[in-house]
Amino acid sequence: MKKIFTLIKVFLWVVMDNRAIGLIDSGVGGFTVLKELQNYFPNENFIYFGDSKNMPYGEKSNEDIIKLVNNGIEFLIQKEVKFIILACNTASSLIDKLSSSVKLFSIIEAGCLASLDFEKQGKIGLIATRATVNNKTYEEQLEKISSDLSFVSYGTQDLARVINNQLDEINLLKKNIHQAIDPILKQTPVKHLLLGCTHFPIVSETIRELYPEIHLIDPAQKESQLVQKFIIENDLENTSNREGKTIIYLRQDHDDLISKRLLKELNINFESLNFIN
Ligand code: DGL
Repeated sequence: MKKIFTLIKVFLWVVMDNRAIGLIDSGVGGFTVLKELQNYFPNENFIYFGDSKNMPYGEKSNEDIIKLVNNGIEFLIQKEVKFIILACNTASSLIDKLSSSVKLFSIIEAGCLASLDFEKQGKIGLIATRATVNNKTYEEQLEKISSDLSFVSYGTQDLARVINNQLDEINLLKKNIHQAIDPILKQTPVKHLLLGCTHFPIVSETIRELYPEIHLIDPAQKESQLVQKFIIENDLENTSNREGKTIIYLRQDHDDLISKRLLKELNINFESLNFIN
């Protein structure tokens, strides 16, 4: 009986792949990527896993980050997702060391391609977590596609955590934004700044207010294009004409008001928001 059920499921996937697309972030930052994907793929289903309980990933050892992300990947694979997007840059910076039986997408590839759309040579600013910057994956990825462009990067210690947990403390937020961007400008007066952490696009308006002369690059749109290419090449499209559904799981031991507020502000459609342990 179980075999027949599995066969029917596989047959349906071939005809119309309604399995969800999985997304992983260390917290609420990936909501900005989710929003972009929902706009781009209105008929696809999404399952989002955010590990707010264990964030900031960017201050952890690579060994710990790998364990936590593998755990998130396993969670999503059990929900039968068709592939997984590592919305989190810190997780993406370790993509080669992660274990997964489904395809993993790195947001870092999208970030490098998006940077090249705006600047062909010289320097581009990159703000990311300390782990992302230390792992140098952005530099390695960019070198593969351009020898004329390079990053001036700075690894911030607290900005992602402040955005995840203290978004309303505007003075603290502004202080942390300055601490992240000023060291880059001291080195080189860049025209473009790549937001190499999913949490940062949430506060892009505040960043623009403080640095109106700098153009901000968010890799999320480019990510959607890469995903679309893969979906088409591998026949993974959900051809249903019904609007897709999104289920959100946040690992968090308390009811989290910031995540609820952000979902509303970003106008993200979701069927359920689940706080898990
Ligand atoms: N969202 C993560 C990223 O994109 C960073 C936040 C954290 O340190 O957990 O890198």
